[in-house]
Amino acid sequence: MLAAEAVELLDPNRPSRGRTGPAGGLFVDATVGLGGHAEALLAAAPAAHLVGIDRDPQALELAARRLAPFGERVRLVHANFHRLEEALARLAVPPCGLAGFLADLGVSSMQLARPERGFSFRRAGPLDMRMGLAELTAADLLNQSSEAELEKIIRDYGEERQARRIARAIVQRRAEEPWETTVQLKRLIDRVKGGAPGREGRIDPATRVFQALRIAVNDELAGLESAIDQAVRMMESEGRLVVISYHSLEDRIVKHSLRDMARGDVDQVTGRPLAESQLLEVLTRKPLRPSEAEVAANPRARSARLRAARRL
Ligand SMILES: C[S@@+](CC[C@H](N)C(=O)[O-])C[C@H]1O[C@@H](n2cnc3c(N)ncnc32)[C@H](O)[C@@H]1O
Repeated sequence: MLAAEAVELLDPNRPSRGRTGPAGGLFVDATVGLGGHAEALLAAAPAAHLVGIDRDPQALELAARRLAPFGERVRLVHANFHRLEEALARLAVPPCGLAGFLADLGVSSMQLARPERGFSFRRAGPLDMRMGLAELTAADLLNQSSEAELEKIIRDYGEERQARRIARAIVQRRAEEPWETTVQLKRLIDRVKGGAPGREGRIDPATRVFQALRIAVNDELAGLESAIDQAVRMMESEGRLVVISYHSLEDRIVKHSLRDMARGDVDQVTGRPLAESQLLEVLTRKPLRPSEAEVAANPRARSARLRAARRL
């Protein structure tokens, strides 16, 4: 989503000054997924090279097929981008070697569409929800966590008002039979919440709980700030960073990380900002949102927010 906007802000055809890597610049797509954004960038900038990262091996297979026409301009890596430096060190990317970094967070349409992955409450499947390398499934979390832990996950990661009631019902039910399927969980949430969209408007009552579990299973938020920091520090001067998020928890982390690096440190004595510690200029005062046409074509786009920055 927001692919054209992301490519424009990554500005992949800007002139290179003192680059160590390929003349057209080395870009990282940290969530290459099915390769849509990567393809748009490589097509728009014929001299650019790209490293595509994903923690999901199934995604990498699809990306490899889609990006094959770009030949040696593309390298794909199976990794968690929260450990970006480690992943790029494996490819011998030099320090300050990045011309741009893109992260299009969350789940892909492929992950949602495959019932056996367990991400969607609209499809019958096992309660898995692992994007790749995580060890515990959503069913493990539901079967093993305490009621208090479940309440915290559902409240903090789902911003769900009825977290306590839902956590209690989850624990009560597992005394009779263990959690296994998406359908079981959807049914329980509908029962506890009354099954109607209610105050949250158009979203399904199960949306927030499924989101919360997915974030917990994949530990999606813990490493995000550090990943942005690693990306910025590996960037050349004028390098661009673009992050697309799909819920307010992620967007808040992105917004604060960029703002902190754009502000830099303050002199302890004078209280003035220290210019040399400012790493970024934020390019999006407000996040970009998808056009009405994009939302009409893909309702999942409605929650997308894009933020971008330029390395000083
Ligand atoms: C919204 S999709 C990206 C779609 C992609 N931009 C495209 O055009 O096809 C997000 C992808 O990021 C991956 N992902 C999410 N968190 C990740 C992480 N911490 N490290 C690596 N990959 C991650 C998911 O497995 C998924 O394939």
